[in-house]
Amino acid sequence: MSTSPLIDVQQVTYTYPVQRPKGSGEQALQHEPALQGINLQIQAGEYVVILGHNGSGKSTLARHCNALLVPDHGRVLVAGMDTRDTSKQRTIREWVGMIFQHPDNQLIATVVEDDVAWGLTVRGYSASEIRARVSTALEAVGIAHLRQLPPHQLSGGQRQRLAIAGILALQPHCIIADEATSMLDPFSRQELARLFATLHRDLGLTIVQVTHLLEEAVYAQRIVVMEQGRVLDEGTPGQIFADLERLRALKLIIPDPLSLVARLRQAGFCLAPEAVTNEEIAREIANA
Ligand SMILES: Nc1ncnc2c1ncn2[C@@H]1O[C@H](COP(=O)(O)OP(=O)(O)OP(=O)(O)O)[C@@H](O)[C@H]1O
Ligand SMILES: [Mg+2]
Repeated sequence: MSTSPLIDVQQVTYTYPVQRPKGSGEQALQHEPALQGINLQIQAGEYVVILGHNGSGKSTLARHCNALLVPDHGRVLVAGMDTRDTSKQRTIREWVGMIFQHPDNQLIATVVEDDVAWGLTVRGYSASEIRARVSTALEAVGIAHLRQLPPHQLSGGQRQRLAIAGILALQPHCIIADEATSMLDPFSRQELARLFATLHRDLGLTIVQVTHLLEEAVYAQRIVVMEQGRVLDEGTPGQIFADLERLRALKLIIPDPLSLVARLRQAGFCLAPEAVTNEEIAREIANA
């Protein structure tokens, strides 16, 4: 049985409008298209990573998935709702929550639990419903013990978790994280990438994670590789990482464990192609 995708990007092309300073005349200035004929289907419950280097169009694509941007050509359907339909955009943004690079832009209140409650309060939920949802969301992201603190006392990683809790409280079907880990230290980055994997596994959430880091893509079920506004390739992490030279040519940085595996294979060791996380790689090497 085939079901229609949660997010259906059909032949989407998008060019950012030129902001002409006043009095600059009518020069025929135009940006290059940021998206060029993108087709991408994301099924409910999937965990997808959008991978690509600077300027490849990842953020532009992500913003099309919750109607922050709408296509010039083609269309985007979210659970069958066309993102161009202004009467549906509010629902679309509730279905598909978005997390950005800087959590602070998403934090509003002066106490952690009030911050998570804010989106529910403005939508008029009852006090008991708000309490229950706030507790569930804070527990899901692992910061329930910090609920009484002011957000500025939290670490960067904890503030990003708080931003995620605020989105989770609205019970979205999908979370899109656009380089949400890029302001964090490597350890917190890895922790947050694991949190997305956990939310996917335990809550059945659809996760779309945008990154230029291969090490954050290892938990995904599917990686979508972007370059110059196009989808270049799609596949499991094992399939995509099978050709590291090509990823290097796309200006992506290859993490040491993946380079090591590739070199061991060249030297004749037989290592399972689906071993991509550090844990899986360590196990393969130990058993080789
Ligand atoms: N607001 C904007 N106005 C004009 N051009 C833009 C704007 N935002 C992005 N672009 C251009 O669109 C293209 C795609 O950018 P986008 O931000 O989607 O890429 P990205 O893969 O998210 O890059 P990054 O790794 O830097 O976040 C780039 O050429 C970029 O310069
Ligand atoms: Mg971006």
